[in-house]
Amino acid sequence: MIAKARLQQLAEKHGTPLFVIDHDELRKNYRDFRKHLPRVQVYFAVKANADPAIVRTLFREGASFDVASMPEFMIVHENIRHWPAKKRQDWIWDKIIYANPTKPTETLEKLNRYKPLVTFDNREEIFKIKKHAPDAGLALRLKVPNTGAMVELSSKFGATPGEAVDLILEADRQGLVVEGISFHVGSQTTNFENYVQALSLTAAIFQEAQDRGYHKMNLLDIGGGFPAPYDSTVRPLKELAKIINTEIDRLFPKNIQVLAEPGRFLVASAGYAVSKIIGKAVRDGKTSYYINDGVYHTYSGVIFDHCKYPIRSFKKGPTSLCSVFGPTCDALDVVSMAENLPDLQRDEFVYSTNIGAYSHASATWFNGFPPATVVHVNR
Ligand SMILES: Cc1ncc(COP(=O)(O)O)c(C=O)c1O
Repeated sequence: MIAKARLQQLAEKHGTPLFVIDHDELRKNYRDFRKHLPRVQVYFAVKANADPAIVRTLFREGASFDVASMPEFMIVHENIRHWPAKKRQDWIWDKIIYANPTKPTETLEKLNRYKPLVTFDNREEIFKIKKHAPDAGLALRLKVPNTGAMVELSSKFGATPGEAVDLILEADRQGLVVEGISFHVGSQTTNFENYVQALSLTAAIFQEAQDRGYHKMNLLDIGGGFPAPYDSTVRPLKELAKIINTEIDRLFPKNIQVLAEPGRFLVASAGYAVSKIIGKAVRDGKTSYYINDGVYHTYSGVIFDHCKYPIRSFKKGPTSLCSVFGPTCDALDVVSMAENLPDLQRDEFVYSTNIGAYSHASATWFNGFPPATVVHVNR
């Protein structure tokens, strides 16, 4: 946790808008995940925050990586670029999954020489992979309940349980190897029952595949969704891990290889945003603060991630209900319509915590305002 005074010093030194990443927190989150889910190989979902320094820190911790585009693949690959070819290839096979079920043919062609593990969820994709990346290994992405997740993924991704084994057998007929099954219960899943149902569905599909003569699957990918501690209602990872460990032990053979793709859980609490007040107005009796960061920038998660980031002040005092707006000349740029803040003046700083995931990652240059300056601490 970075102290308020330190955040303020950093903002004075580097200017605002500022995005601070605490690498001690990244390491702590990674180690917590390993501790509570010891059977699970941890593939950091790079999309949550693709900063190369974050990837580097997790690489040094021994993490594996979930990438979903060629540029993300290359950010990870940069860390092993100088290794001998055989060692590099073994590492890629063991440590990278390309977990975007639909891939452009150009990407498949570029990926093929790295012989990665890739996900798929439909017939068209099987034929595409066969033609453009025949050396890849496959994992079938299964559609599972995303009930109550903050970000729902199951309407865009995943084969239904009814078609799953047909797809596995089709890939087999094409001479491809399906190594296992992956799912995602929806991002920021506080409904732990989603994992229970997903594991049960997956176990049934393993069984059906065996019954129909396919015996090559030995990989279970439980995806992401592990909730970040945005507020006190979020139950700790320890509780979720207990449920997952019990279900895996109950439903799957001892030698199955289990992997997960946490994004948010690893980076959310490692990120801080500091901005300053650039304008103040009273509208319909309510104070409106205009800050130099907004939803086109670090607060992009308000739109894309359906996430809320409370705005905090560095100073104490009686508070009132306020609105907080971003700096662009666009009415969509609303950080929050309801924040309790003390009376603040132009040039004073405000900040948000737990803003490391799906925030700076989707910041734009809209309206000529650049993304926040990034500062790494405890690297
Ligand atoms: C395939 C896949 N894996 C992992 C993740 C990371 O999920 P989370 O940040 O919820 O852990 C995502 C997020 O969208 C995803 O699409």
